[in-house]
Amino acid sequence: MEPSKDNLNGRRSMQSEGLHRVNQYQPRVRGDCKYTDRGNMYIIVTLGLIVVHLLLLPIDVYLTWHHKYWRKRGLVTARPLTLLGTYPGLLTRQRNLVEDLQKVYDKYKGKHRAVGVFVTRQPQILVLDPALAHEILVTNFRCYKDSLTSSYIRHAKWDKYARRNPFWASGKSWRSLRTDAQAGISSHRLKQAYAIWEEGGRMLTNYMEAQVTEHKNVLETRDLCFRYTAHVMADFIWGIDAGTLTRPEEQPNKVQQMASKWTSYAFYMISVFMATIVAPFSRLLLRLRFYPKETDEFFSKLTEESIAMRLSAGSAGSRTDYLSHLLQLREQKQATHDDLVGHALTVMLDGYDTTGTALLHALYYLAENPASQQKLRTEILSNLNTDRSLSFEHLCGLPYLEQVVYESLRLSSLIPQYTKVCTNATNIQLNESKTLEVEAGMTIMIPNYQFHHDKRYFPDPEMFKPERFDAAAHLELMRKGIFLPFSDGPRICMGMRLALLTLKSALIHVLSEFQVVRGREKLRPHGDAGFGMVLQGNVHLEYRRFSR
Ligand code: HEM
Repeated sequence: MEPSKDNLNGRRSMQSEGLHRVNQYQPRVRGDCKYTDRGNMYIIVTLGLIVVHLLLLPIDVYLTWHHKYWRKRGLVTARPLTLLGTYPGLLTRQRNLVEDLQKVYDKYKGKHRAVGVFVTRQPQILVLDPALAHEILVTNFRCYKDSLTSSYIRHAKWDKYARRNPFWASGKSWRSLRTDAQAGISSHRLKQAYAIWEEGGRMLTNYMEAQVTEHKNVLETRDLCFRYTAHVMADFIWGIDAGTLTRPEEQPNKVQQMASKWTSYAFYMISVFMATIVAPFSRLLLRLRFYPKETDEFFSKLTEESIAMRLSAGSAGSRTDYLSHLLQLREQKQATHDDLVGHALTVMLDGYDTTGTALLHALYYLAENPASQQKLRTEILSNLNTDRSLSFEHLCGLPYLEQVVYESLRLSSLIPQYTKVCTNATNIQLNESKTLEVEAGMTIMIPNYQFHHDKRYFPDPEMFKPERFDAAAHLELMRKGIFLPFSDGPRICMGMRLALLTLKSALIHVLSEFQVVRGREKLRPHGDAGFGMVLQGNVHLEYRRFSR
């Protein structure tokens, strides 16, 4: 049979189809290879991803395991990030804890008494109601005896002086350390040692007078404040002239250099300590310490030499100060050399650093607010004796001076949050119908900075208005848990009186001799990698001498 045209066509078409198929086939063969490779690759990638997921799963489960913790207990949860928890800045160190806390506080304040948060994966309670803060610090203290830092002492055998500071102590050792250290800074003892602050204040203004002519009235005030606190603390604790005010040519001054190195290290390590809450064993592994070895050695030697000097001076060298208290502890309680150095450093840590920073802020706020400064100066000058002295009682009782100090402590909130540990299981009444059971070991944060900057309690919170503390208003605000510059209850700041004396005395001396003026630039406190919101870097203020 002859093939029809169609058939021919068909064949042709088949052939051409075949060719076409062949033509199509060839690349397909190559393409299939490619697809097979690609397919294999997909399988490998998929398998790889599964393996990665399987490997990551336990980590993810580990990190998020607790994230339902608060929901199960009926407490509103501030949504955490998987890896970083509620306060990412603690780990990334990109943002200050105060800033992370502010976001949570603003979202939930006024709606709840407390919310559940996560420090990475670790559940924690964040207090939002000041009345609850008062309950934790004061009325229910028996269930919250420890601070977060107090767990440290149990394992930090190598940090021999830090572990003698009540701040890092818990249980019975906290009680006995606090009792021994505090007896040396009681009101009675400070009154007996008051000459140290009178003399220190005079030395401060003499130093300023010398500097002011040299540097055209402008002084870097952070350095000035630390020179003053180094001076009064070294005189009170070791009975020595540190030279910070009397020998300015000594650069660097050894006492100030060591104190600055040590305190900045210690405060930085507190923030590291907080960040390692998620894996407390890492503190042991890293042999975390708060006081560097170098400064331990320096202050140990200083204590040894000061004691030898005091003893060799006999009755001629006797005076009431912290060194005489240390000698009493040695005699009456058989305190060892390490105990004495530990107690000395407990007073120096905040007596030098925190109090120096508080003074810097007070001077800055006064420079920014000339009317408040003038009002304070008028109060000071009308109370000074003719020889320009002021008795201890008078100093403690000046009302506007007290208001200025409290207002600058409120604004700066140098220790911006307190983390307490539940030591006995207890309850928190969340509202009329809901009670939260708090397990022993749970940590609870009190956002002191946020209370101090909340306009519901302090209208125009960023303004410096000492009058808000008129008529001893601070007492009522403390009782309500709203104003806590020194915390409250049995673990209230041990050195509160000492700090107030140091601050007030410096302000009296400076303001009676100088007008403090801010430069053109307004400085704003901001957070660093640590935990506060404070003035950073150099703070240049102008000091204009009054003619007598
Ligand atoms: C303006 C200066 C000061 C401020 C604002 C301040 C503030 C505070 C605050 C808020 C606390 C409680 C911290 C917490 O619960 O986590 C505290 C505790 C403490 N402060 Fe101060 N402080 C100052 C000066 C001093 C001074 C001069 C000393 C020297 C003795 C001192 C020694 C202590 C000690 C030992 C503790 C721990 C108390 C304990 O846990 O029993 N502070 N301070």
